[in-house]
Amino acid sequence: MTTVALKIASKSPAHAQQRVFVIGVYKKGKSLVLSDGLADALAIRHVDLETISASEKTESLVKIPGPNGSTFALIGIGQEQPSIDTLRDLAGAATRSLSSFKDIVIDLPTASAADALAIAEGALLGDYQFTKYKSGEKAVRKLQAVVVLSNHRPSTKDLDSVRFASEAVHFTRDLANTPANDLYPASFAKAAEKAIKGLPLEIEIWDEKKLQADGFGGIYAVGKGSARPPRLVKITYSPKGANRHIALVGKGITFDTGGLSLKPGEAMVGMKYDMTGAASSLAATVALAQMGAKVKLSTWLCLAENMPSGTAQRPNDIIKIRNGKTVEVLNTDAEGRLVLADGLSAASEEKPDLIVDVATLTGAAVIALGNRYAGVMGDEAAIKEVQAAASTAGEKVWPMPLPSELRALLNSDIADIANVKIGNRSGGMLVGGHFLKEFVGLAKGGKTTIPWAHIDIAGPSDNGGAAYGYIPKGATGTIVRTLVNLALKQPD
Ligand code: BES
Ligand code: ZN
Ligand code: ZN
Repeated sequence: MTTVALKIASKSPAHAQQRVFVIGVYKKGKSLVLSDGLADALAIRHVDLETISASEKTESLVKIPGPNGSTFALIGIGQEQPSIDTLRDLAGAATRSLSSFKDIVIDLPTASAADALAIAEGALLGDYQFTKYKSGEKAVRKLQAVVVLSNHRPSTKDLDSVRFASEAVHFTRDLANTPANDLYPASFAKAAEKAIKGLPLEIEIWDEKKLQADGFGGIYAVGKGSARPPRLVKITYSPKGANRHIALVGKGITFDTGGLSLKPGEAMVGMKYDMTGAASSLAATVALAQMGAKVKLSTWLCLAENMPSGTAQRPNDIIKIRNGKTVEVLNTDAEGRLVLADGLSAASEEKPDLIVDVATLTGAAVIALGNRYAGVMGDEAAIKEVQAAASTAGEKVWPMPLPSELRALLNSDIADIANVKIGNRSGGMLVGGHFLKEFVGLAKGGKTTIPWAHIDIAGPSDNGGAAYGYIPKGATGTIVRTLVNLALKQPD
């Protein structure tokens, strides 16, 4: 977790050892120029920026020595006044690549308090390394303080919110980066208990016996092939004065081998991230409680390890979900939808005003949208809400349809529904969405509908390529801040 001290100031600290000044570079006409800021950059005013290979390209970074042992880091900012999203990225790139300094002074052009806040947020988000499993590398990290220079001052409340949200992103990254030999359903539930200590949150944990007794047939069936049994965790936040109730449901497969429908070896690598939906839901809930948000939350973490074994569920097995519907399991690798079916059913029983589920649900989402966009499906108004919240966060989501003709693919001859259509590869993300939709709302006495959005984060949950902006390699924590914004905003 970040321990870095954060300050917004309009007066620059002096030049000193181990202090780096981040200064913007952009192109004015044909020549490169330094952006006009608040730091003392007199010493480099006449430096020929071309010869030292500085560039206006965003995130290009060149370091040169400054007075009194300080350093200047010249960062490309693309244009004289970058957008708020670019500012967040630039600040993240700065803290990510300058972590060997004790303090960073970020002097980027800001046109508003929101700009300054985004820089602060980017700086915290970029200040992340997962070194728990590296012997001897823990001391490399030196960064202790970040000063954001701006004449625009965000409120203390906004700065606190940014800190809580960034810590939630770090928490999600830590959980998702943790390998499955250390993070399994019971240890995940323990981590949740630890994370809510001291906060006005209640927790309820179902073990495998209680799951079976209470009719959570999806989570139970997916988890029964593993020596490490499944769990369902419910976290409740009921602040005084809340006039809206949101349920978050997260897919928490601590490792997805595919089960008996075993994945090929290479496709299994990265499946430790298959619990990111649950981690994101948990972390967002913690942040919202820390912020004192005026919204009721019920957060459901559907935790299981999907393993092949003599006790694993088989293709053709029929299981019963919490809401009474039966599912013919034709592919044990489509397990996320089975655990979420229980989570969505249980969430629906409380009739919340909105249900949002978050899941690394389909490889098809990665094929369709690549590694930076999450797909959003569900009710139109709920999709719009997610889009608005994501846009404020600077996170990328894309609306996807649930074409009605695809629903018939999941018809089963002997159960209420099948979990896949064998041999069908088209519209895989949308078919997954259709399956989940069956478990939203209450079937008793005519269907009660509940507004619902499903976010497939299979693409952006982890970054297999190089780090960029505030996004590190590995777990990204993407969508946590979207969830936080969504819960903070009152719908129109
Ligand atoms: N956890 C995977 C989805 C996934 C794939 C996430 C790649 C991230 C990267 C999910 O449980 C799964 O295996 N889905 C199957 C569904 C299929 C059997 C209908 C898939 O996508 O192949
Ligand atoms: Zn799977
Ligand atoms: Zn999975």
